[in-house]
Amino acid sequence: MSKAPVRVAVTGAAGQIGYSLLFRIASGEMLGKDQPVILQLLDLPQAQKAVKGVMMELDDCAFPLLAGMVATDDPNVAFKDADYCLLVGARPRGPGMERADLLTANGAIFTVQGKAIAENASENVKVLVVGNPCNTNAYIARAAAIKVGRTNPANYHGMLRLDHNRALTQLAQKSGRSVSSLKKMVVWGNHSPSMYADYRFCTSNGDSIKDLINDHAWNNDVFLPTVGKRGAAIIEARGLSSAASAANAAIDHMRDWALGSDDWVTMGVPSDGSYGIPEGVVFGFPCECKNGEFKIIQGLEIDEYSKGKIANTLKELEEERAAVADMLK
Ligand code: NAD
Ligand code: LMR
Repeated sequence: MSKAPVRVAVTGAAGQIGYSLLFRIASGEMLGKDQPVILQLLDLPQAQKAVKGVMMELDDCAFPLLAGMVATDDPNVAFKDADYCLLVGARPRGPGMERADLLTANGAIFTVQGKAIAENASENVKVLVVGNPCNTNAYIARAAAIKVGRTNPANYHGMLRLDHNRALTQLAQKSGRSVSSLKKMVVWGNHSPSMYADYRFCTSNGDSIKDLINDHAWNNDVFLPTVGKRGAAIIEARGLSSAASAANAAIDHMRDWALGSDDWVTMGVPSDGSYGIPEGVVFGFPCECKNGEFKIIQGLEIDEYSKGKIANTLKELEEERAAVADMLK
């Protein structure tokens, strides 16, 4: 018997990430090749014509799993009964801007959307914030949702998966091992240059990647800056921020959360106090996913170098949290 459709809300549907994301969701790459979906597309009033164009193209793909579509500029309509919300719509960073510059511009969007999700979505809704600064935007949406109640505060995530995937490819290229052989990668903290991509636990066919590479200077001076500043490098090269790779990471995050993963995955999740990160801060942690639930991997040893890196990215997130405190009163 075929499954009942689930509702997937996507904001910023007319944008460049939306254009890479929606077709893959509709083809079953996110929730499985047996799961029909209804797409609920939110964008600004001036973007509605472009959303309609994207919907025409979705129609023209004749996706067997696409069970319906809604286009709207009203968050209450977009999030109605949604099972999954991908919050992509925001102002992207241009050349010379840091993600933190977007804090106030985008913060207002996420208070409105967090409230609308909590009031309208399914109680078990899974929310992924892609729009930058994504950790703090997820923190804002979660805070607004908590005021309403109803939804699960643990289910408001920020996207660190792009950093995780970027790190995997850098490690594969350095070690000569395939990306698919790499396990147990983790990126701690903020989706910003302060993130700490940590391959101390990473293995390839049972071999330690740290031992294979055995080059602390490369880690500190090449690997971490390359992964941390990759977004800026792409903006510099393309004149636009990353889109297809960001959409791919969003698919990976939601797919693993919904369907489970056989490896550690980095997720930006509200801290439960693990590893000394204050409760509620949306922080990149190593997670495992099973039966539609995620769990932070516990008990990893944090050496002195890593402690410094984690403290540094936490400090930045705490500053961002302080900067938006007034919005959340
Ligand atoms: P884009 O400008 O191409 O599209 C953004 C879309 O969002 C536009 O259609 C715009 O009309 C819409 N929008 C703006 N405000 C909205 C609102 N309040 N409600 C609904 N829609 C709204 O941008 P993009 O390239 O698709 O990027 C979107 C966001 O994703 C940016 O914030 C970007 O920085 C971020 N991003 C995050 C990651 C990550 O790894 N977390 C990676 C890449 C990009
Ligand atoms: C990225 O990492 O590519 C995105 O966050 C876009 C950006 O502004 O860097």
